[in-house]
Amino acid sequence: MSTYILGIESSCDDTSAAVLKNTQLLSNVIANQDVHKMYGGVVPELASRAHQQNIIPVVDYALSKAKIKKNQLSAIAFTRGPGLLGSLLVGTSFAKSFSLGLGIPMVEVDHLKAHILSHFIRDEEGMDKPKFPFLCLTVSGGHTQIVKVESATTMTVIGKTIDDAAGEAFDKVAKIMGLPYPGGPEIDKLAKIGDPHAFTFPASSMKGLDFSFSGLKTSFLYFLRDNLKIDDNFIDNNKADLSASIQYTIIKMLLNKLKRAAKETGIKEIAIAGGVSANSGLRSSLISLADEQGWKTFIPEFQFTTDNAAMIAIAGYFKFLNGEFATQDVVPYARSRF
Ligand code: KG4
Ligand code: ZN
Repeated sequence: MSTYILGIESSCDDTSAAVLKNTQLLSNVIANQDVHKMYGGVVPELASRAHQQNIIPVVDYALSKAKIKKNQLSAIAFTRGPGLLGSLLVGTSFAKSFSLGLGIPMVEVDHLKAHILSHFIRDEEGMDKPKFPFLCLTVSGGHTQIVKVESATTMTVIGKTIDDAAGEAFDKVAKIMGLPYPGGPEIDKLAKIGDPHAFTFPASSMKGLDFSFSGLKTSFLYFLRDNLKIDDNFIDNNKADLSASIQYTIIKMLLNKLKRAAKETGIKEIAIAGGVSANSGLRSSLISLADEQGWKTFIPEFQFTTDNAAMIAIAGYFKFLNGEFATQDVVPYARSRF
C-alpha cells in the first residue's frame, strides 16, 4: 500500500506544502513572501502573519496538484524547528488541527535534517541517491554545517559555523553593496561576469572543521570604506569583480573544510544542501574538487535547494516508516538541536 505524506514548511519566510507518494514527489507548492524585500531582511512578525494568510491556500493547491483528496493522506509532516518561532507556530498549529480533524498521525521534522534528506526525493526515474554514510555540507541562510549522515535518522554534526552562516555572509555583503534581499542569488549572478581574483579577502580558518564568516564581512566593509574615500563610485564600478571575489573566498572557505572532513572520515560520498547549494560557483567548484579527490557528489535540484516542503515530507516519510509520531503537546524550537 502506498504512503501519502503531506509536508508543511513554515520556518522562515516561505510557506510551502508538498505531497509525496512514498518517495515520489506529487506536488511542491511554495509561496514566497515579497513583503520582506523593502526591509532588506526577514521581519519575523510579518512572516508569521503572511504564513497565516498563505497556509490554507498553499495546502489546498498542493493537494489538488497532487490529485489526491485529504482523506487519502497517511500522515502530515511539519517543520518543528529550527527557525522563527512565530512562523513555526503557524505550521505546527496547522499540522495539529489537520491531524486531529483527519484522524491521521503527525510527524515532526528537523529543518536541517530535511535539507539533507532532499537528496532522497524522487521526481524522475533512475535518479542516483547517496549511500550511507555520506557527508553533507548544509549551507543555508541560518546554518552552515558539515554533517556525517549515517542513516535517514542518524546524523552527526562534525563541523559548524561559530558565527554567521554562509548564506548570511552572502546576504550581508550584498546588503553592503546595496543589492536587493536575498543577496545570495544577486551575488551569484554578478559573479558570473566578474573576476574572482580582482580583489583578495582574508579566508579565516577556524580550528578543526568549524567555520567563521563574520570577519570576512567586516573586512569587506572596511575594504569598501577605504576605497570609497578614493572613488565615490567604487561599488558601482566594481560590482561584478567584488561579487566574484567575495564568492570565490566563501567557496574556498567552505570547500577547504569539506576536503578536510572527507580526509578525516575517509568518506567519499559527498552531498551539498540548503539555499547556498544553488550557487553556481559552489556547484562547479565542488564538481572540480570531486574530480581531483575521487569523490562521488550529490548536488540537489534547484527546486530543493531553498526552503521547500518536499524535503519536510521526505524526512517525515522516513520517520513515519519508523513509527515516530508527534503528540498534540509538541512545541516548536527556535535553535538547532543537533
Ligand atoms: O535554505 P534557505 O532557503 O533558508 C534557510 O534555511 O536559511 O537558504 C536561504 C539562503 C539565503 O541566505 C540566500 O541568499 C541563499 O540561501 N542563496 C544563495 C543562492 N540562492 C539562495 N546564496 C548564494 N548563491 C545562490 N544562488
Ligand atoms: Zn532552510
